[in-house]
Amino acid sequence: MSSTAAESSSTSPSSSSSSSASASASSASASTATLWPRLNNGLPTHYDPTKKVQDKLLFTPGPLTTSFTVKQALTRDWGSRDTAFQRVIREVRSGLLELAGVSPAEYTTIPIQGSGTFGLEAVLCSAVNKKKGVLVIANGAYGMRQTFITKAHGIPTVLYECADYEAPDLAAIEKLLQTTARDVSHVSVVHSETTSGIVNDITAIGQLAKKYEKRFMVDAMSSFGAYEIDFHAAQIDFLVSSANKCIEGVPGFSFVISRIDALNEAKGNSSSLSLDLHAQCAGLDANGQFRFTPPTHTLCAFRQAMEELKIEGGVKARGMRYRENQQRLMRGLAPLGFELYLPSERQGYIISSYHWPKDKNWNFETFYNKLNDRGYVIYPGKVSNADCFRIGHIGRIFPEDTDGLVAAITDVCKEMKTAAFAPK
Ligand SMILES: Cc1ncc(COP(=O)(O)O)c(C=O)c1O
Repeated sequence: MSSTAAESSSTSPSSSSSSSASASASSASASTATLWPRLNNGLPTHYDPTKKVQDKLLFTPGPLTTSFTVKQALTRDWGSRDTAFQRVIREVRSGLLELAGVSPAEYTTIPIQGSGTFGLEAVLCSAVNKKKGVLVIANGAYGMRQTFITKAHGIPTVLYECADYEAPDLAAIEKLLQTTARDVSHVSVVHSETTSGIVNDITAIGQLAKKYEKRFMVDAMSSFGAYEIDFHAAQIDFLVSSANKCIEGVPGFSFVISRIDALNEAKGNSSSLSLDLHAQCAGLDANGQFRFTPPTHTLCAFRQAMEELKIEGGVKARGMRYRENQQRLMRGLAPLGFELYLPSERQGYIISSYHWPKDKNWNFETFYNKLNDRGYVIYPGKVSNADCFRIGHIGRIFPEDTDGLVAAITDVCKEMKTAAFAPK
């Protein structure tokens, strides 16, 4: 689907919609077209002219709201051995290298069927030396998930763990690399820890890993495409992300951007057949095809999503939109008495965790359901030691949609007599 068709869809009136989210989207078209390039420069939006009732807006960590044109790209059947589909695979693989700012002489892209965890598991079970093991740095549930993967594959693991609101302590990590983790082959960390919203300093950690001659893996599931990542400065050997995060495709595959020399070390080392990273890459390189049934529709939607990322202005522009989403939410919720879980210097612009208000009228289920009824989907908290809810800033949602969410939250709080509207 071209951006021209997208343009006409994004400017169509949506008066038949009955959800508040879409109503605010359509009313925003007149008033905010000059404020944000959502509807005025051909950028495809989430508005779907074929639907009477628009989908709810997903303020979650994924699956995410996608553009109408990305969804449209799903509506074709492709033969997996068709040369046109093989071109899609090639374009996705090379487009991701371009997006990462790395050269095909040094790096390659390996798409893996399944969700993000499949990509992480593929790297860990294929690349890590089974005798030497891995140092996992964790400050949240997704860091900890890596230890569940290594346990399942019997991979020796040294865990550095700190609280989910804290930045990992580099001196403590270095100490581990000199002692317990001296012999590991790999170091691994999550970039944007979606558990809390904290963003870890992958450059400092990667440089430390290299100082001790370790291969370095980054889980950039929720950041790749919206944070500029310098692969060389951070010395990244393997970066894992997935289709339905900041590139705004639909779920169905993850991808690994891997240094070729690091990948070659993984030959014959995998403890999984379907998640053998080296074999997956060798298959794709040999005949342009997946070894096992490919996610044809998802890949085509992803190629469209990559095109739309370019139209938006690339990683920097996308990051700016997400940051503006986050800022507007923060400015909107502060007067209502909602407090962020993270200190502001550690708060990223992918997702925000908010403490529950402490008044007796607060009830998360009611809050969630009332927002859902108004067309806005938020997410429960995931941090370990506080009652929180989370609001995502990624996907095809815009600052004006965030304003709509803030208005809905205000309305719901009034109705529930909670937060700023709780009886004193
Ligand atoms: C940082 C991070 N790592 C890993 C995952 C797991 O991805 P999936 O649920 O797609 O398997 C997620 C999911 O949101 C994530 O945010």
